[in-house]
Amino acid sequence: MKITITAVKADVGGCGGHIRPDPRMKEAIAKFLETAKGVSIIDFHIQSVGDDIGIIMTHTQGENSEVVHKLAWDAFCKATEIAKSLGLYGAGQDLLKDSFSGTIKGMGPAIAEMEIEERPAETIVCFQADKTEPGAYNLPLYLMFADPMHNSGLMLSPKMSEGFNFEIIDVEKTDADTIISLNAPEDIYDIVTLIRNNHRYIIEKVFSRTTGEIAAVNCTTRLSLIAGKYVGKDDPIMLVRAQSQFPATGEILSPFTIVHYVSGFMRGSHIGPLTPVPINSDISYFDGPPIVSAVAFNVKNGKLTNMVDCFANQFWNGIREKANLKALYIREQGFSGPAMLEDKELEYGGITERLDKLKDRFYTRKKVVKQKP
Ligand code: 13P
Ligand code: 13P
Ligand code: MG
Ligand code: MG
Repeated sequence: MKITITAVKADVGGCGGHIRPDPRMKEAIAKFLETAKGVSIIDFHIQSVGDDIGIIMTHTQGENSEVVHKLAWDAFCKATEIAKSLGLYGAGQDLLKDSFSGTIKGMGPAIAEMEIEERPAETIVCFQADKTEPGAYNLPLYLMFADPMHNSGLMLSPKMSEGFNFEIIDVEKTDADTIISLNAPEDIYDIVTLIRNNHRYIIEKVFSRTTGEIAAVNCTTRLSLIAGKYVGKDDPIMLVRAQSQFPATGEILSPFTIVHYVSGFMRGSHIGPLTPVPINSDISYFDGPPIVSAVAFNVKNGKLTNMVDCFANQFWNGIREKANLKALYIREQGFSGPAMLEDKELEYGGITERLDKLKDRFYTRKKVVKQKP
């Protein structure tokens, strides 16, 4: 049976700043999507991460279905109405267009979508992060699909012995989607040369080289490129298939023990550790740290069954402590050097304005020519 999984995420208003949505917003979305269940979608799951609400839907209408995309758009509009009525901060923040126009892509919400031939025991993990950008998944995706230090199945399982194919998109090329296809293991030096740049080169899709099947899909939205100004970070959503010809769920989660430093945090302009958290977690210290949640499902006849909140397990408590320390360590140096993003990536105009004003106050010092004695 062919099933499409559509995962969409948007920030349509936060309580107490950019902390979390109001539960009534999620309830309104659930009530609305219930009316579509059994009609245009088979099943759905709703959660939040920080101030973002994520919706995972299953259906048989294929990728880029106008009906399904509009459903998600209308659901976020309903939540926006509630956010506005409650006076929440940034109500409708990620809905960058006034009306729906055929696809939710390019309209603000982050989307990851895959059509699959459902396996007898289909296992899917959905990652949702807040206060960071899609490139935050570059390192974990590389490690889970190409590095035996995290994916022991690359050595142990004949089903993965041929490795994986990575499709990497250059998000700075906005005229047309510009993509490169590279294979692990033979191209790994080329892959890492690109994906070390989390702002520009994003792993968008991963395929099994053994079966040709889709293994992972990441969103690649850059809100500022759509809106032409800072409207919040591009808090990303990603779908990964697990088990058998794909990495085990534990191998998929393994790279998140690193709590690697990513862009985002306060005002989308700083560096902080990507901290694994249970679903529906709030944001706190310095509008962060950047957080990531993971839910695993079985998909049976399109139904999302047996949801597991992967980072709620006690093991991750120690990892969170490590992340807290890494957050404090980098915050000790405030604005200095690598604690903040490079000028080009800063999400606010304040620094550029200041630099512009200061330009005329620079003067050139006359060269001192030493006289010979
Ligand atoms: P404002 O500058 O709109 O207050 O947003 C900043 C902010 O909320 C950072 O957390
Ligand atoms: P969000 O992108 O999660 O709304 O965060 C915006 C921000 O500036 C936080 O400081
Ligand atoms: Mg927000
Ligand atoms: Mg957010």
